[in-house]
Amino acid sequence: MIYKVIKTITHSGITEITIVLGGESVGDFIRLLGDGSNFNAHFSYVYQQGAGGIAEALYITKKIVKGHKIAVILGDNIFENSFSNAVREFEKSKEYGCFLFLKEVPDPERFGVAELNERGEIINIEEKPQVPKTDLCVTGLYFYDERIFEIIEEVINNIGYSDRGELEITDVNNYYIKMGITKAQIVEGFWSDAGTFRTLLRCGTFMEKNIEQE
Ligand code: G1P
Repeated sequence: MIYKVIKTITHSGITEITIVLGGESVGDFIRLLGDGSNFNAHFSYVYQQGAGGIAEALYITKKIVKGHKIAVILGDNIFENSFSNAVREFEKSKEYGCFLFLKEVPDPERFGVAELNERGEIINIEEKPQVPKTDLCVTGLYFYDERIFEIIEEVINNIGYSDRGELEITDVNNYYIKMGITKAQIVEGFWSDAGTFRTLLRCGTFMEKNIEQE
């Protein structure tokens, strides 16, 4: 799973990668992945103590990645395609500080759910709503500009940790959305998280069929 996730990033043209690890298996990941040279990339590692959420995991990379435009990908999100065009567009963009990637799903209540206006622009995200307004899930790939760490600090100071004990990436994304500098696009091809037995199986079945191309 982690190989596919890393390839989604390297095949998009990004080779300077910071990996946030936690729990007991840190040594196994570092032994497996090494310094990144097997992927024609460079890896650095950061340790997240406890399960404080995606925004917290991102925040603790601040010393390493601040001052750049960045892409964030979750370690259990399998995308069929890479994102070179989006990366190039985001690098050049002066208009947008955040790109989000949406996918229609049958079970939006498990995810961050995007609400769009009549022009197709994203206007809000609700994290795991009981009654989702759309079936558009916000997938675990996010592009942010250099302001990202200031915005996470805003979230820490003004919103804080959620009921599930996490600093929510959805709160960060809603900040960018309120600033009017967020673009959302639909993901082409296969996408799934692997957070349930069923979706783990979906990812495994997809990878089995597509492994020759990897
Ligand atoms: C996280 C995000 C959610 C997003 C999902 C994608 O959910 O909070 O907004 O839709 O990743 O995989 P979690 O995996 O923490 O439940």
